[in-house]
Amino acid sequence: MVENDFDRPGASPENASTAHSTARGLDAETAAEQPTAAAVESSVAETPTTESNAGDSSASHPSSERQSAGGSTAAESTNGIISARDLDVYYGDERALRDVSIEIRSERVTAIIGPSGCGKSTFLRCFNRMNDLIQSARVDGRVEFEGTNIYDDDVDPVALRRRIGMVFQQPNPFPKSIFDNVAYGLRTQDDTENLDERVERALKRAALWDEVEGDLDKSALDLSGGQQQRLCTARAIAVDPDIILMDEPASALDPIATSKIEDLIEELAEDYTVVIVTHNMQQAARISDRTAVFLTGGELVEYGDTDQIFENPESDRVEDYITGKFG
Ligand SMILES: Nc1ncnc2c1ncn2[C@@H]1O[C@H](COP(=O)(O)OP(=O)(O)OP(=O)(O)O)[C@@H](O)[C@H]1O
Ligand SMILES: [Mg+2]
Repeated sequence: MVENDFDRPGASPENASTAHSTARGLDAETAAEQPTAAAVESSVAETPTTESNAGDSSASHPSSERQSAGGSTAAESTNGIISARDLDVYYGDERALRDVSIEIRSERVTAIIGPSGCGKSTFLRCFNRMNDLIQSARVDGRVEFEGTNIYDDDVDPVALRRRIGMVFQQPNPFPKSIFDNVAYGLRTQDDTENLDERVERALKRAALWDEVEGDLDKSALDLSGGQQQRLCTARAIAVDPDIILMDEPASALDPIATSKIEDLIEELAEDYTVVIVTHNMQQAARISDRTAVFLTGGELVEYGDTDQIFENPESDRVEDYITGKFG
């Protein structure tokens, strides 16, 4: 039997905290230590209910120079890091995800696209058991990570979330200084050696350092939305997770801030595995190596290299969706 190593040294609950607290004034530290269903519900409630880009047929072709992170093409790697098998999710009697099987590749950007309500956020939350925090949710099936089904009874979801972090649509910095936000997970873990350097490194990796270098003691709440989102990303990566889940991280941002987040995602994928939900098909085409298309009813209809999905999808339904014929 493979022993799971979700509680490895150096990890911390930070990623869980990133996911559990919300921008709506939930006590950040309480949320970090003790996730609540309410916290998740409220962040879920913040996801948009409109499909703003689904009908944008101009979004249908990715840039031809798109490269996967690291400069190689996605087709060169087949290493899976996490996979779902026969995954179903129900909210009460309503089925939100239908028999989904997928393997996510390591150190790549995987985009999840599809019309509003098709189950993208539900699916993303399956990867770090965030659906556990929604009372009415029931997950059937398996998610395999490092040889273990993360839904096994003996898996600690908090430890799991240290390895598989999450960044939400709405930036949710703690009401603390910029420094304390990034240091939070490491401190909680009592892992404070070279703290200054590690905070600096995380801020640099999140492409925020140049903008905040002299202001680390200032409140994170005084940053712009785009800066806050990069801060939340810095907070998530400070504890060095393996996978970063992002649920529409740029949808509340202006084009310049969005472009910074997109650059950041591509850089992160050199070292981390990024799974991103986006409504924006151009964004998916620009930044992802692999794309999974969900359609109404929580069905994964097609999954493949991003170029193939956007230029030559196998499914007529996917083609219709991508070209804006329905959404
Ligand atoms: N907490 C919840 N309780 C009950 N039903 C839920 C909950 N969260 C989602 N659902 C339902 O599950 C289905 C999938 O929702 P989900 O939020 O995963 O879709 P989505 O693809 O992320 O949508 P959007 O693009 O609008 O964010 C929807 O029918 C939604 O109403
Ligand atoms: Mg959503």
